[in-house]
Amino acid sequence: MNPLLSRLQPYPFERLRALIADAPPNPKLRPIDLSIGEPKHPTPAFIKDALVGALDGLASYPRSIGLIELRQTISAWLARRYGIPAPDPEKQILPVNGSREALFAFAQTVINPERNARVVCPNPFYQIYEGAALLAGATPVYAQNVLEVKDWEGVQLVYACSPGNPTGRVMPLAEWQRLFALSDRHGFVIASDECYSELFYGKPSTGALEAAHKLGRAGYPRLVVFSSLSKRSNVPGMRSGFAAGDAGLLKSFLLYRTYHGSAMSVAVQKASIAAWSDEEHVEENRRLYEEKYKAVLPLIKSPLKAEMPDGAFYLWMRTPLDDREFARRLHHEHNVLVLPGSYLARDADGANPGRNHVRVALVAPLEDCVEAARRLMEFSKSL
Ligand SMILES: Cc1ncc(COP(=O)(O)O)c(C=O)c1O
Repeated sequence: MNPLLSRLQPYPFERLRALIADAPPNPKLRPIDLSIGEPKHPTPAFIKDALVGALDGLASYPRSIGLIELRQTISAWLARRYGIPAPDPEKQILPVNGSREALFAFAQTVINPERNARVVCPNPFYQIYEGAALLAGATPVYAQNVLEVKDWEGVQLVYACSPGNPTGRVMPLAEWQRLFALSDRHGFVIASDECYSELFYGKPSTGALEAAHKLGRAGYPRLVVFSSLSKRSNVPGMRSGFAAGDAGLLKSFLLYRTYHGSAMSVAVQKASIAAWSDEEHVEENRRLYEEKYKAVLPLIKSPLKAEMPDGAFYLWMRTPLDDREFARRLHHEHNVLVLPGSYLARDADGANPGRNHVRVALVAPLEDCVEAARRLMEFSKSL
């Protein structure tokens, strides 16, 4: 067996299942599950139609590099969305089967484990970064603020996530500037996870390619961004996203992917072209989430605390008691499932930054989100 497998941590949902195993939910209330970050708004009909219309594509093996039409569509989308020159579809863009597999595979491509490699992850964070680092033979470094890491010795890769899961925070241009300066000084690669980029509330979130362009970083040195249709277009089951940025890194990534066998089905590529070419459904999607925040946030009062995030679809809520106990009792007494924040973070400098927080994903229908907020308040008043 690969000994590195034993270093993987249990996934947060596995820990949640164990936490609630001996505390059955209140059967008098209908269940409301806000624990998983899975989009639940309907998939637009035109994307389904495009997929069905492209089923002939199943008759051929797809190429790892993907159809040029898809890469051109993504290039045009990036140029429109971020006001950057259209990236070269031959060298600066690769289709990926959702950002998750790509964020994982990227570490296997860029890490040299012979050099005591370290990988910086945000904290709290999306656990795939940690697993990717461990299976690449590197040691994860958990940083509440990546810019404040003191020791950069051996750091080969930094994961950034903006808008962040679970906080919804967007990295401003000034922070990208400081991160790029650190990358120039220490030589590490930046993997920018932007799978929530289209769920913003207020001004459009800054992307890493946009930041690099504004700062005159031609060719996006040591930077690759990862984006996805899952949340943007409500197609988490389609497994479609892209990686874009530094052509040298993407060349090695393509080589890795050719052997890994992660080419995207031609049918999915054609449906993805349709999805990236339309913004109307994305606007409607944002509107639906915004409506939920507007309905839910005014209901959340002390001792709970939550603020409107810059982006994504979570409430990162402060709890008046230990987050695990809070989640367990909320489920047991009120049949609402949320994720303890400490499961999304690691102890660093003597503290777990997810402690006394829960992540509430506003993915259920509006009425369920409002009902969950009402039950959350009822529960917190009873404490
Ligand atoms: C921060 C973050 N990155 C990446 C992903 C993966 O999304 P997908 O593989 O569907 O693009 C998720 C999914 O929940 C996520 O929360």
